[in-house]
Amino acid sequence: MSDNVRPASMSRINTQALALAFIDEQVAALRAQIGGKKVLLALSGGVDSSVVAALLIKAVGQQLVCVHVNHGLLRKGEPEQVVEVFRGQMKANLVYVDAVDRFLDKLAGVSDPETKRKIIGAEFIRVFEEEARKQEGIEFLAQGTIYPDIIESDGVKAHHNVGGLPEDLQFALVEPLKFLFKDEVRVVGKALGLPDGMVYRQPFPGPGLGVRCLGAITRDRLEAVRESDAILREEFAKNGLAGKVWQYFTIVPDFKSTGIKDGKRTFAWPVIIRAVNTVDAMTATVEDVPFALLQHITQRITAEVAGVSRVLYDLTPKPSGTIEWE
Ligand code: XMP
Repeated sequence: MSDNVRPASMSRINTQALALAFIDEQVAALRAQIGGKKVLLALSGGVDSSVVAALLIKAVGQQLVCVHVNHGLLRKGEPEQVVEVFRGQMKANLVYVDAVDRFLDKLAGVSDPETKRKIIGAEFIRVFEEEARKQEGIEFLAQGTIYPDIIESDGVKAHHNVGGLPEDLQFALVEPLKFLFKDEVRVVGKALGLPDGMVYRQPFPGPGLGVRCLGAITRDRLEAVRESDAILREEFAKNGLAGKVWQYFTIVPDFKSTGIKDGKRTFAWPVIIRAVNTVDAMTATVEDVPFALLQHITQRITAEVAGVSRVLYDLTPKPSGTIEWE
C-alpha cells in the first residue's frame, strides 16, 4: 500500500473521543519520529497549520519552532491572534516575521493576477528560507498537508505552484494530518483546545487579501479591503451567518466612481461583497443575505472605511463567476 493512501481501517474522526484517541496516537508517533531533534513549521494561523502546531507542541514542546510570516495580506487581527494563541497561551517557540514592507514593495505596480500570486508564493518561500537558515539543528519540516491535498494535487497545497525550499534545506517531512479531511481536522483542533475562531475559520486563500485588492495593490486600497472585510465578518457573526455561510469576503476593484460624503462630492472606490455556499468549491451558490442586513453593512462600510462610497453585492453563482475575483 502506498504511504499516501488513507488506511481502510481508519475510522472517521467525528467525535471528541475519537479525536482524543487520534491525538494520543499521533503524539506517540511524533515523539518516536522526532526524538530529541528540532522541527520547523510555517504557521499561517489557518486551520491546518494551527492544528499541526498544537499537536507538535503537545508532542515535542520547545523542539518545535513555528515561523509566522506576516506578509501584509492577512485579515484584520490575524497576526495578533497567532501570537496571542501560540506564544501567549500555548507557550510555543514562535518566530514572528514582519515582512509587510518586503511583500508590498515587491508587489507594487504588479497588476496581473497570476504574477501577483507567483510573487507572493516565491517571496514567502524566500522569507521562510531565511528564517530556516537562522535556526540551528533543524532536522524536520512540519506541514499541514491534509488528505484532499494528496488526492487533488499530489500532496502540494493547491495553487502553491512556486517551487520549494532549496536542495540544501531539504528536511524530513512531518505531516500528521495527511489522512484527515477538513471536518476531521476541525474536530481534532477543537479537542486540542484551539479557539473556535481558529478551528471554524472559513477558507482563506494563500495569497490572502492580495487577490481581493484587484489589480496593482496599493496600501490604502488594501486597508479598505481589510477594514471592509472586518465589518462584514463582524456583522455575519452578530447575525448568525458566520458558521452557516461557507465563504464571505469583500473585494475592492481598482476604479473609482463619484459619490457624496459629508456633503462633498468624492471620487471613491466601491466595495463588493461576496458570500457563497459550496461543498467542494468547484461550484457555488450565492447566500440569500437578508436585504436589511446588506443595507446595514453598506451603511457601516461607507461610513467607516476610508476611500469607499459604494457597496455592491455579487449575485453570481460559480459558474459563471469563480469564488474569488482574481
Ligand atoms: P475560485 O476563485 O477558483 O476559488 O472559485 C475556489 C476556492 O479556492 C480558493 N482560492 C485559493 N486558495 N490560493 C489558495 O490557497 C489561491 O491562489 C486561491 N485562489 C482561490 C478560494 O478562496 C475558494 O475557496
